[in-house]
Amino acid sequence: MASEVTRRQFLGKAGTATAVGVSTATALVADGAETTQAGPLKIVGICCSPRKGKNTAAALQVCLDAARQVGDNVEVELIELAGLKIPGGPAAGVPLEPGEKDDFPGLVPKLSDANLAGLIVATPVYFGNMSYLCKAFLDRCNELRKNFALADKVAGVVAVAGGRNGGQELTIRSVHTCLLGQGMIIVGDAPPTGHWGGTAWSSAPGGVTADEYGMNTVKNLGRHVAEVALRLR
Ligand SMILES: Cc1cc2nc3c(=O)[nH]c(=O)nc-3n(C[C@H](O)[C@H](O)[C@H](O)COP(=O)(O)O)c2cc1C
Repeated sequence: MASEVTRRQFLGKAGTATAVGVSTATALVADGAETTQAGPLKIVGICCSPRKGKNTAAALQVCLDAARQVGDNVEVELIELAGLKIPGGPAAGVPLEPGEKDDFPGLVPKLSDANLAGLIVATPVYFGNMSYLCKAFLDRCNELRKNFALADKVAGVVAVAGGRNGGQELTIRSVHTCLLGQGMIIVGDAPPTGHWGGTAWSSAPGGVTADEYGMNTVKNLGRHVAEVALRLR
């Protein structure tokens, strides 16, 4: 019981630190000896477009930049799945073909890093849902579910579509379902946009990053993931 009270006080202090804009990580280390860790607070973004360096990657970078600005201790990394081979079969126990390449095991150390505090999954919208690459990646993450390595980490989703209303929200909710199955703590874009996540529009005049509405949702998502991760730590 005593430790519960301490934790509540700790969370309250974390909120105050965020509100006044001080270095939250430093404040937490000073005040929350019970629950702090020395390492950086890592937020990894997984870009699930098969096209390297395109709209989904650009939107995810904006999201991660916003997360990075939340505290000195926040580290971000963008991982593009484009060009990697992530076969879905092994998730269901189907063996690889002779000579078939599988890059998923190379991602596991990053996903099971003890300092990983947040995961942001960004996917293009394909026929109103996530890309095939995103689904294969999320299915393969079943491997991490065996010891719930992603449980209690904060997660958010960015969806990028050719249409302004091209299925972003449904896609985000679909990815949420997979992440909830990992026991992750799902957050949306923080107020004032305050909905389900980053909803970006790749055909916007001037390009995806010129779309002010979409970029606000993307930035607020990154900020929210980092702020909640800091509070939890
Ligand atoms: C197979 C396929 C299906 C698509 N389905 C949709 C869709 O349902 N709604 C939409 O607005 N855009 C759709 N698009 C467009 C993509 O979402 C859009 O081009 C997106 O920016 C691609 O991301 P990228 O540039 O990072 O590859 C589709 C594109 C492809 C290739």
